[in-house]
Amino acid sequence: MKKGISLIRYAITDSTNTRAKEYINSGDEPIPALFIADGQTDGRGRMGRSFYSPEQTGLYATILFAAPKSEDRLLSLTSLAAVAAAEAIDELLGVSVEIKWVNDLYKNGRKVAGVLAESFERYSQRYIALGIGINLSTSDFPEELKEKAGALSTETIPRERADKLALLFSERLLGFLELEDTSPVIDIYRRRSCVIGRRISFIQGGKERFGTATGITPLGALKVALEGGGEITLSTGEISIFLQ
Ligand code: BTN
Repeated sequence: MKKGISLIRYAITDSTNTRAKEYINSGDEPIPALFIADGQTDGRGRMGRSFYSPEQTGLYATILFAAPKSEDRLLSLTSLAAVAAAEAIDELLGVSVEIKWVNDLYKNGRKVAGVLAESFERYSQRYIALGIGINLSTSDFPEELKEKAGALSTETIPRERADKLALLFSERLLGFLELEDTSPVIDIYRRRSCVIGRRISFIQGGKERFGTATGITPLGALKVALEGGGEITLSTGEISIFLQ
C-alpha cells in the first residue's frame, strides 16, 4: 500500500476513532494506520454529538498518524482534511462538494460528511486520530437529521470503492501535511467554501452574534464582519448560515 498506511477493517465497531486510540495504547503498532468500518454503533461527532453511522451506506474511517510538529499545521489540520476529502470525493466519485467552515462537506445544501480530529499522547509522542464520516448513499435519516443531512449518491457505492476513497483521502491529507507551503490548499478551501460572502451567526460568550463571512485566513480561520461594526476571526467553533 502506498506511503505504508496499514489498513485495519471492521464490519462493525463502536467508533473508528476509539479503535485508533486503543491501537496506539496497545503497543508499538505501525503508523500511519487507517481504520475503516462498514457501520458504527457509537459514532462520535464534534461538540460531543453522535454521528449517525448506519451499516453499508456510509464510509466511517479514521487515519491515525504522528502529530505534525508545526503549530501552524496543527491549527489548519481540519481545514486541510476538508480539502483532502472534497478532492478525493471529486476524483473518485465525480461528485462536487462544498465546504462549510470549519470542516463539514455539503452537497445541495445538505451535510454529507464531517470530520472529527482528536489528539492524544503516548510516551511523549503526540498522535492524531482524524475521523471522517461520509454519507455515501444513506437516505433514511433519523427525524432530527432529516432536514439537514444528505448523501453523495442515490446509488449504492461498492465497498471497494469506499475503501479506495478512504485511502485516497488519507494519502492526500498526509501529503498536505508534508508541504512546506499549504497556501495552494487553503486556496482550494476558499474556492470550495459555501460560507464566504454569506450572512452567518455564531455563539460567543453565550450570546448569538451576527455578521458576514468575509474570508479564510492562511490557517483556515474564518474572518467575519460583525453586524454593528468591527471584525472578528474565528479559529474554531460552529456557525449557522442564513438562507438567502
Ligand atoms: C461531525 O460532523 O461532527 C464529525 C463527524 C465525524 C464522524 C467520523 S465517522 C469515523 C470517525 N469515528 C467516529 O466516531 N467519528 C468519526
